[in-house]
Amino acid sequence: MAENSIPANSDLPVKPLDGQNDIGWAYAGAETDDYITDFVKFAATTSGPVADLGCGPGHNVKLLLNAGTKSIIANDINEDHLKKFYKTLSEEETERAVALRGSALTLNKIIKTGTLGGILAANLVHFLHPSEVRNAFRLFYELLAPGGKLCVIAFSTRCGVAVGSQDLIRQRRKDGAEWPGLVTADFQEPTKRDEASSEMVYKVLLNPEELRREAEAAGFHVEKAGFVPRPDYPAWFSIGTQPGMSSGLTAVKP
Ligand SMILES: C[S@@+](CC[C@H](N)C(=O)[O-])C[C@H]1O[C@@H](n2cnc3c(N)ncnc32)[C@H](O)[C@@H]1O
Repeated sequence: MAENSIPANSDLPVKPLDGQNDIGWAYAGAETDDYITDFVKFAATTSGPVADLGCGPGHNVKLLLNAGTKSIIANDINEDHLKKFYKTLSEEETERAVALRGSALTLNKIIKTGTLGGILAANLVHFLHPSEVRNAFRLFYELLAPGGKLCVIAFSTRCGVAVGSQDLIRQRRKDGAEWPGLVTADFQEPTKRDEASSEMVYKVLLNPEELRREAEAAGFHVEKAGFVPRPDYPAWFSIGTQPGMSSGLTAVKP
């Protein structure tokens, strides 16, 4: 793990993160949701390390740190985001949080099987292909210790990314498609989107039922799965007058 971790850079000032910092995404506001709130409470009580996969600007790592989580692995594929974020941590915080760059999908090469107390994957899996989503749930299961908790948040088909594709998604559901929210060429994305969020490509929008299905197939006991309204996200995330919805899941490895 040591060679992948990024040490604290003590010559940079420590500054707290907020919802609108220069390394984040405009939509990832300061507000959180019940799934992450509950997960953070759990994380503070577990002795095993807690991984935040695709941690990006690190909002949730900060929540985990502030709650007193003893050991955190902050992972992201983007080294720049990780470095900028890591430099904002205090010395005490860097003792509890290690930054691990690389794809979350290959972490089984670095993290020992069955050792993590918790895994948070917020706003990550909708950037993966369905086969990768399935593998990700298997990997989460493999990495967690028994009793370990998983929290997943993803964009659902009831958000602005799918604003022009509601009929298509309905038809796919009727046809029994395994992944109704698969973003294909005929999938109409909204034209207006804040610049920062367009740097990554959505691959599949996931509703609670798909998160539940994948978690159960991997062996998890699902505690909770449901839609998470995000009225605090920018206008493009909504569908008409309805606030856009994310999906949330909390599951435990028996
Ligand atoms: C939209 S941001 C979410 C950030 C944070 N989790 C949140 O909810 O505010 C998605 C992050 O996932 C990272 N990412 C994308 N694919 C990844 C992968 N395979 N492994 C690890 N990180 C990945 C991106 O670099 C980006 O920082």
